[in-house]
Amino acid sequence: MDIKKICVLGAGLMGNGIAQVCAQTGYQVTLRDIEQRFVDNGMQTITKNLARDVKKGRKTQAEMDAVLGRITPTVDLETAAADADIAVEVIVEVLGIKQRLFRDLEAIVPDRCLFFTNTSGISITEIAASTARAKKVIGTHFFNPVPVMRLLEIIKGHETDDETLATAKAWGETLGKEVIIVNEAPAFTVNRILCPTINEAFYVLESGIASAEDIDKGMVLGCNHPIGPLALADMVGLDTLLKVMDNLHAELGDKYRPSPLLRKMVRAGNFGRKTGRGVYEYD
Ligand code: 3HC
Repeated sequence: MDIKKICVLGAGLMGNGIAQVCAQTGYQVTLRDIEQRFVDNGMQTITKNLARDVKKGRKTQAEMDAVLGRITPTVDLETAAADADIAVEVIVEVLGIKQRLFRDLEAIVPDRCLFFTNTSGISITEIAASTARAKKVIGTHFFNPVPVMRLLEIIKGHETDDETLATAKAWGETLGKEVIIVNEAPAFTVNRILCPTINEAFYVLESGIASAEDIDKGMVLGCNHPIGPLALADMVGLDTLLKVMDNLHAELGDKYRPSPLLRKMVRAGNFGRKTGRGVYEYD
């Protein structure tokens, strides 16, 4: 399939990163969110990341301008999706909202358009079932920060066809990502392993076994992880992490019970870096 235009729905942490890597690869991109301030924030992050590349000599100013020129920011769904070859959904992790968005999109996009959903753990099959194109729906799970992380996890839903899978894989490779393909399962592969590990770090913290700093230092220096699990929780978002754990718990049982401390922090609105406070505090 000849892919030219990508519509990214959701300009937050993951959405703006996906828009950036798509535009860097040469695709025409529309970046859509429901409010202008979200779109503006997304564009600001992309501009900041590109400016850092220019400063470090990894891009020229002309290349940066060309990348920005390939991204059309908008709040209008029709402008964003008309003529899209691929729609990548990167919105809030609520099944009903994702399903409604895809239903709205179906009235706008051409028949050829594939639906990619960047969820941390919601069932691809269930998202797909609410559309009339379940064969063309697939999970594309990017990692934060998207411009830096090399992996793309592609998740095949129950109805996803081989052509969609092949196109998603080829597209991911054009973005410079290494692709792994997994069959749908709760939290897929990486989050199935990563999120319980982070959750365990919260249990260790709340049990008073070690301080946050020492838990993180232990995993950085003892296991060569780039950052500790609690610092990573702040980066990923405690709200996102809790949603993944709640889902794993509901699907797979008590072994995956979310830490009460994690839940309490989310209830307090301490989601991590994005709210200025999580396990640690940020300016
Ligand atoms: N966007 C773009 N580029 C970024 C960035 C961002 N948000 N943050 C860092 N970078 C780049 C910088 O350009 C920098 O390169 P430079 O110094 O040459 O300009 C490079 O990354 C290193 O950055 P720093 O020196 O500032 O900081 P670190 O050495 O700590 O590296 C990191 C930052 C690469 C993010 C590193 O901390 C890391 O690897 N952390 C773990 C990330 C991880 O595990 N992500 C997966 C999360 S799980 C997930 O996303 C799934 C979800 O569903 C839950």
